[in-house]
Amino acid sequence: MNTDPVQSKYLRAARGERLTVPPVWLMRQAGRYLPEYLAVRERYSFLDACRTPEVACELTLQPIRRFGFDAAILFSDILIPLAPMGAEIAFGEGQGPVIADPVRSAGQIEALRPVQPRESLAFVLEAIRQIRAELPAHVALIGFTGAPFTLAAYLVEGGKPDPFARLKGLMYGDRPAFRRLLDKLGGMAADYLEAMIEAGADAVQLFDTWAGILPAREFRAVNLPVLQKIFARVKALNVPATYYALAGMHLLEEIRETGCSVAGLDWRIPLSRARTVLGDRTALQGNLDPTVLLGPEAVIRAEARRIVDEGRGPGGHIFNLGHGILPVTPVSAVDLMLDEIRREEP
Ligand code: CP3
Repeated sequence: MNTDPVQSKYLRAARGERLTVPPVWLMRQAGRYLPEYLAVRERYSFLDACRTPEVACELTLQPIRRFGFDAAILFSDILIPLAPMGAEIAFGEGQGPVIADPVRSAGQIEALRPVQPRESLAFVLEAIRQIRAELPAHVALIGFTGAPFTLAAYLVEGGKPDPFARLKGLMYGDRPAFRRLLDKLGGMAADYLEAMIEAGADAVQLFDTWAGILPAREFRAVNLPVLQKIFARVKALNVPATYYALAGMHLLEEIRETGCSVAGLDWRIPLSRARTVLGDRTALQGNLDPTVLLGPEAVIRAEARRIVDEGRGPGGHIFNLGHGILPVTPVSAVDLMLDEIRREEP
């Protein structure tokens, strides 16, 4: 079913409307804390699950059925579109993603192939079509991709980017090659998001998990121009776009200038303080500390309530965690959180 922009609380808040009870969804809402997810993962590897539209569709819908979230996020990964560019990606059990042949020279950057999402990522677009056909009209479907800087971090480091010496070495050591890398990734991201929107995504989110390692000055110099181009292309399609940067509180002014419609915030900063920098034309998304869900009922309720209250200023608020839900989270903690958020539902 197509989304109804009036019925969808997520879309209304993303466009800046204030609601008594904010819409809610959780980053990584389809995942290992859900028994029904683990059951599917016994039959499919993570990559096979991402590449099989019926399975990706089922995994996307699981948390919607169980919790009635206001938005569904496509089951996939930010690293999926790197494969058609030429990077070989593996997800080892428990060790995170590994890229076999890291990209570290100008020659390797030049060799990265352009992506035709309607061809090499057709399985993602088919999953989106299937999900949209199954979702109720009041639930928005979010498509996503990694932001160029974060994708570059994985490509250059070859896996979990720590301590970012190679990535920042390239950034400071060969600025033209680094810019070329971000441009290529930015072009891919914009083409991919456009194709997702065409296939039925109602909104998009750009994950910039590692942007927080940048000084504000460097963010402005290398990252901001690429982000502005992506958001300008999405905005032309009249679809709300979220920018999420982990540990990006020192970047709020720059984030406001990206042109995103929603700023995704981690748990470090009070929403009310972020609002003073972002103003009322950018909606806020966040920002419960994911580890709160490991605590007792009274703490879960108090923290969820605090965030609903802090989100109430001018401009919209979408309730979420400050980062992905942890695999050890009890399902009952999510129920308690939702019960608290939705207490004033008419
Ligand atoms: O949010 C959702 O439920 C949608 C699906 C989604 C996944 N990854 C599924 C996934 C999304 C939006 C992502 C984004 C993603 N992937 C990010 C950005 C957000 C963030 O968490 O900071 C990053 C950096 C990745 C890269 C990635 N994928 C890592 C580092 C790992 C291993 C660590 C981990 O959490 O397991 C993954 C694997 C991954 N992506 C899983 C899932 C459900 C776990 C797969 C499994 O073992 O079953």
